[in-house]
Amino acid sequence: MNPQLLLFENDSLSEDGFRLSGALKHQINQKQSRSRDCLLQELVEFSEFGGRTAVSSSAASQIPILTNEFWTAKQRAASSLHEVSYRACFKPQLPRFFIDRLTEPGATVYDPFMGRGTTVIESALLGRKPLGCDVNPLSRRLVEPRLSPPSLESVYERLLNLELTCSDELPSELGVFYHPETLAEICSLRRYLIERQESGEIDNIDNWIRMVAVNRLTGHSPGFFSVYTMPPNQAVSVQSQIKINERRNQVPPRRYVKEIILKKSKSLLADCTSDTRNDLSHVSSGAMLITRECF
Ligand SMILES: C[S@@+](CC[C@H](N)C(=O)[O-])C[C@H]1O[C@@H](n2cnc3c(N)ncnc32)[C@H](O)[C@@H]1O
Repeated sequence: MNPQLLLFENDSLSEDGFRLSGALKHQINQKQSRSRDCLLQELVEFSEFGGRTAVSSSAASQIPILTNEFWTAKQRAASSLHEVSYRACFKPQLPRFFIDRLTEPGATVYDPFMGRGTTVIESALLGRKPLGCDVNPLSRRLVEPRLSPPSLESVYERLLNLELTCSDELPSELGVFYHPETLAEICSLRRYLIERQESGEIDNIDNWIRMVAVNRLTGHSPGFFSVYTMPPNQAVSVQSQIKINERRNQVPPRRYVKEIILKKSKSLLADCTSDTRNDLSHVSSGAMLITRECF
């Protein structure tokens, strides 16, 4: 089983954190060993994708090793809400496989290394209460807005009314990543978001725009604000980017920040119906996402 995915039954967390009474611990242990036994049996008998499960063990451990195709890209497509770039993220089918089998709706699912939040989002979509933690402060910025997604129309309206002209001095060292006019738009958007945060006016539409913008800052394709470079959670230094530009003989092309944000919002929200929003609204207020402080 994936060691990153911890699942708790309803009410297994105490009010003040993770300390549990001896009696409660005993109940949970009993429940967990029952669900472990059921899961083991189900996995041994699993043959949904044609193959039979091979069962083996290693000399070093008494834990059985089960080998089969348990989840696959060919399974029904996952929600479009997941599609933010993050290196080494799960396919949503993986956490879904375990959440479905080991928890009931209303249970709490915790991912201590949530990254872009595949487990957190999938838990919420399945009506579970999501808890997540990550050392990377970007993680909460990327996950939280997708637990209460705004409508595409509201994102469009907000972008339409944004004046992205920056008269401040630009951080010229970032010119190795961005065309000067694109950089001016990014700086302007950043200033807008900081002002909204400081004035307390920031809302779920701004948070969504910030999430998409952060995720579009750097990457490989014209869907990002930058020239070809590494994605945000593998961002390279200015010195490394100078070398990448030389090697690829490239200069940062003009990219249009609002257009890119709108296009990405459209694809992220493609599967987000009013039912999805309604389902998410039942669990998003109880979600807890812990990261280091952001900007
Ligand atoms: C492979 S990614 C997880 C991706 C996640 N499963 C997803 O689908 O998005 C591993 C994550 O662990 C985080 N991480 C690494 N060390 C950590 C630590 N000591 N405490 C909390 N998070 C940590 C990293 O910031 C990274 O986001």
